[in-house]
Amino acid sequence: MKIIHAKDYSDMSRKAANIISAQVILKPDCVLGLATGSTPIGAYQQLIKWYEKGDVDFEQVSTYNLDEYRGLSHDDPQSYHFFMRDNFFDHINIDLANTHVPDGSNPDAEAACSEYDRMVAAAGYPDLQLLGIGNNGHIGFNEPDDHFSAGTHCVDLTESTIEANSRLFDKAEDVPRQAYTMGTQTIMYARMILIIASGKAKAQAVRDMCYGPVTPTCPASILQLHTNCVVVADEEALSLCPAE
Ligand code: PGA
Repeated sequence: MKIIHAKDYSDMSRKAANIISAQVILKPDCVLGLATGSTPIGAYQQLIKWYEKGDVDFEQVSTYNLDEYRGLSHDDPQSYHFFMRDNFFDHINIDLANTHVPDGSNPDAEAACSEYDRMVAAAGYPDLQLLGIGNNGHIGFNEPDDHFSAGTHCVDLTESTIEANSRLFDKAEDVPRQAYTMGTQTIMYARMILIIASGKAKAQAVRDMCYGPVTPTCPASILQLHTNCVVVADEEALSLCPAE
């Protein structure tokens, strides 16, 4: 793992956007694995600015998002389909037909997940996978467990994730209890992983990810075994890590 120290959220966002932009410049038809949540928003905003200046071009890029709430339609403002359009896709020149998010509106979990696995595999897996990290060490919605997950599957969200995500809903009861998520094994197939973290609430998870044992009780710890994983985290998120 390569750990890149950022000063604060905006520095983390710029550094992450630089890495993503370099990937798109090096391979204009690359496959990007993308993430939702608060953490990547600044990186998306930076990429939009560079797109507007003509510095980066998404015309040939295709994307696969990590996860989606089960039971939300694509145009539900709380869905990750909506989030991606609102925060990124509607502001760049990507072809929406080349953007993919698990189909949370399909109640048949088995069919929705196997179809998503088929599509990600057919695309050859991401050249670069962007990840956030949950306060509990989750990646995508791969929650702490007694085993690492494989392909896309339906998960019951943990109370801590429901609580963390309730800030984006009117009430905690409105947070969906299940999601479809890319599995840990699929995430590990990406040729490069870029995981970003900001703020004190992530400090323990970042320490466990980078310096703890590789264990499914901290799903992000598996990234220690990836041969090309870059962590970009700010001072607060790195505050519990040993000084290097
Ligand atoms: P956040 O979520 O970016 O909203 O903190 C990250 C995650 O849960 O993966």
